[in-house]
Amino acid sequence: MAEESKPVKGKGKDNGKDKEKAAKKIQEALGGLSNDQVNQLLDLNPALASELSSSSSSDPNAAVEALKRLNLQDIMTGLASSGKNVKDMGAYKFWATQPVQKFGEDENPDKPFEEGPIKIQTVDEIPKEPSPLIDGFEWATLDLTKDEELKEVYELLNGHYVEDDEAMFRFNYSPSILKWAMMPPGWKKEWHRGVRATQSRRLVAFIAAIPVELRVRDKVIHASEVNFLCIHKKLRAKRLAPVLIKEITRLCNLEGVFQAIYTGGIVLPRPVSTCRYYHRAINWPKLYDVGFSHLPKGSRPQHQIKKYATPESTKIKGLREMQKKDIPAVQKLLTRYLAKYQLAAEFDDHEVEHWLWHNSDDTPDRVVWTYVVEGPHKEITDFISFYCLESSVINHPIHNNVRAAYLFYYATEVGLKDEVDRAELKSRLNELVTDSLYYCKKYKFDVYNALSLMDNGLFLEEQKFGPGDGQLHYYLFNYKANPIAGGVDKRNRLDLEGLSGIGKTQI
Ligand SMILES: CC(C)(COP(=O)(O)OP(=O)(O)OC[C@H]1O[C@@H](n2cnc3c(N)ncnc32)[C@H](O)[C@@H]1OP(=O)(O)O)[C@@H](O)C(=O)NCCC(=O)NCCS
Repeated sequence: MAEESKPVKGKGKDNGKDKEKAAKKIQEALGGLSNDQVNQLLDLNPALASELSSSSSSDPNAAVEALKRLNLQDIMTGLASSGKNVKDMGAYKFWATQPVQKFGEDENPDKPFEEGPIKIQTVDEIPKEPSPLIDGFEWATLDLTKDEELKEVYELLNGHYVEDDEAMFRFNYSPSILKWAMMPPGWKKEWHRGVRATQSRRLVAFIAAIPVELRVRDKVIHASEVNFLCIHKKLRAKRLAPVLIKEITRLCNLEGVFQAIYTGGIVLPRPVSTCRYYHRAINWPKLYDVGFSHLPKGSRPQHQIKKYATPESTKIKGLREMQKKDIPAVQKLLTRYLAKYQLAAEFDDHEVEHWLWHNSDDTPDRVVWTYVVEGPHKEITDFISFYCLESSVINHPIHNNVRAAYLFYYATEVGLKDEVDRAELKSRLNELVTDSLYYCKKYKFDVYNALSLMDNGLFLEEQKFGPGDGQLHYYLFNYKANPIAGGVDKRNRLDLEGLSGIGKTQI
């Protein structure tokens, strides 16, 4: 598996240049296809575009071989995020043994099935001890309240976590974002699980979970959200990932939690939804220098800089930074807004405080920015938020990081009227995002990233977010659910009509 896939989770870059190069190679290899057909194929398979464009070979057969690895059915359903990612169900040796939906089962869109747990268990059935690890390694629980243990997790992820397909960028979660992401209300120390080398004590693998009240359509599940699965590069392809996944499952089960949500850039059995990444350049010259953005054919750098200029000021009357006193109003507004999505978390006041309010007293290294709109009667009518996640630029002579803002949650009363006027909602969301762009620039972000989830289809193009080469698949563990729209159509283009049923972001 490891050799076959380089996961891209929430990772990706502007894929325009890759597309141009890849289209040329496909035309050379296959001939006879119209430009539109080639574009369709590449839209559906953005990672194929980067694979073909980066392959040094000028042999047209290389392109044919890459195309052959794609399963036609998957291409047509947009499932193949890259030829390397897709395997037959039988090839998922580990996942075939787990309570997850399988490819080929219940896939008739005209016959929705009843949603619910796949396997019912009780806490008494769950082993009290972890499975043994191979000689020389041992289990460890990481105490993230201790700076030195937080630093160990930070260093493991900083050196070994998710990279893009071409190993140009690697996520660099700061210690503050790690605390934010892994220690929300109700967090459990036991769910921060690692593997150490017995002799050196070095942390070589990690996986984490946090509690989440997850709503799938009309059912609320007391679930966990699994994230930060990471194995040291020297220990890859040794089937350690299944051991870590089984261990975090056991630890969740011991707390009576039998369902989980997780996301990833690779195709596993079986996504409940698939979203696409979009990127809005802010500091275009830097993005160009590091190879994140390309110079479109016929354009000039000056033109790109002008295109991505950000507003000089904000426009919405009453827009201001969220304060502590806004927590209850934001919680209510967010809850009402998320109700329209088929997959969303339920947040109480404590969670809203944790996820959305920046407490300037306790975090020098800021993670989240939230802006509210206060109406004439002091009511909160809208809010928008983003968080900061940097990526390291691997082996670049000048730049060592890209500072990315990720669009987080938002809500607006305009979308909550009895009869929502789509044009009005579109216009309001565009205003909110434009104003947030002003702050992204002010806080020196290089790029603004967003997925095709929530109502994002209403503003992504207008706000100059371009499609990236990354997809994010949503998975449910031990829960059967009918597919949920991810905001892109069968051609992996923004579905402006359907929008997305996903109201859940993952850090
Ligand atoms: C993801 C990672 C932990 C996988 O480890 P590995 O050494 O490549 O894989 P292993 O040999 O241990 O295990 C392979 C099994 O794990 C599964 N697997 C691999 N990546 C997975 C993921 N992200 N989520 C769930 N399962 C995954 C594989 O599908 C395979 O099971 P299968 O036979 O049923 O297909 C490792 O590549 C890594 O640390 N990558 C960088 C960080 C990263 O991408 N994390 C995941 C974020 S979503």
